[in-house]
Amino acid sequence: MAHQNDKNTAQQQRTNLAIFASGGGSNAEAIIHYSYRTAAAFRVALVLSNNSRCGAMERAMMFNIPTMHISSATHPNADDYAQAIISALQEHNVEMIALAGFMKKIPQEVVRTFSPKKRSRVFNIHPSLLPKFGGHEMYGINVHRAVVAAQEPESGCTVHEVDGDYDTGTIIAQKSIAVLSSDTPESLAARILLYEHELYPEVLQQKAQEIQNDRL
Ligand code: GAR
Repeated sequence: MAHQNDKNTAQQQRTNLAIFASGGGSNAEAIIHYSYRTAAAFRVALVLSNNSRCGAMERAMMFNIPTMHISSATHPNADDYAQAIISALQEHNVEMIALAGFMKKIPQEVVRTFSPKKRSRVFNIHPSLLPKFGGHEMYGINVHRAVVAAQEPESGCTVHEVDGDYDTGTIIAQKSIAVLSSDTPESLAARILLYEHELYPEVLQQKAQEIQNDRL
């Protein structure tokens, strides 16, 4: 009986998630909204940004979620930068990380710290069907410009594990949509963003549940 109670407590304890974001923060907000669902398996413990004035930080503050600004400006030394991120995450008991429009490379040390049993608990969303249109400089509207210029019949979004390089980790989920002949990079970006807001929280929910099960 005691064992059963322990199990229930562990199941009820939500997985602590940190969101890393640099931009407008619409994905961050979608994740925060999802976290308020009764059945959510995660709570947003921290929003971290390299840009103290970005929309993502403002949105987090509106929800009274702790925020932290860490960048090469606050920590010019690369080791100090990585250590500051790890300390912030440990301080907030973070168990998994969601990059949501975070435009900086994650230090290897952070990925290693959050990859128990060699499974990364750092996730990213990218606005294309990876491995197409990923890599350095491929972010935000640049991705959609390249897709439209290449006259791709379809595009979409991808959630993947982060392995420390740009857009290369194991793919977890994708949503594809048709690219219309009338699409501009902006119209495509807007349409895909709506699917990002659905796909990303669902994947995080599944990953948070896996972490809860690992605790048992
Ligand atoms: C999103 O479309 C996200 O997929 C993309 O940046 C946008 C951020 O929007 N990320 C990348 O391109 C990563 N390579 P948001 O700040 O409104 O969530």
